[in-house]
Amino acid sequence: MSVLESDKIVTRLRAAFNHGSPSPELLALAAQLIQQAGAPYTSVYLYMLRGDELVLEAFSGRETEHTRIAVGDGVCGTAVATGKDQNVGDVRSRENYIACNLFTRSELVVLIRRGTVILGQIDIDSDVADPFTDDEEHAVRQVADALAVLL
Ligand code: SME
Repeated sequence: MSVLESDKIVTRLRAAFNHGSPSPELLALAAQLIQQAGAPYTSVYLYMLRGDELVLEAFSGRETEHTRIAVGDGVCGTAVATGKDQNVGDVRSRENYIACNLFTRSELVVLIRRGTVILGQIDIDSDVADPFTDDEEHAVRQVADALAVLL
């Protein structure tokens, strides 16, 4: 069981796509629907990979000044550099963590991939310590996999 109802979110994203919503709208909708799940989904950021930088293209929750992150930097850039999703239960455990605010305790980054190509990522900040179970991570991946097809 997961807090995130990924099936419902994927259905909403497919409906928006079928009604002609362009990629920026799909990203904004995904951010909004994930954040609406409530705790532990405090803030949701959709970064897309543009060259060797991640560019913030939609978010829901707290604003961030980190609108561009180089591949390899922070938790977000590490996900791209290593090709691995990042589930950081305690952000203080990561030396290269890029802080957006003082409240965030944990972070989950799930890559949006089309085949072997990384398109971007869903980055979730949580005020809750270590909340992202395997089921929760799986639910976020369902949304990321849907976006990979629809964007
Ligand atoms: N914490 C991220 C930076 C992005 S903000 O969380 C929105 C990182 O370490 O890469």
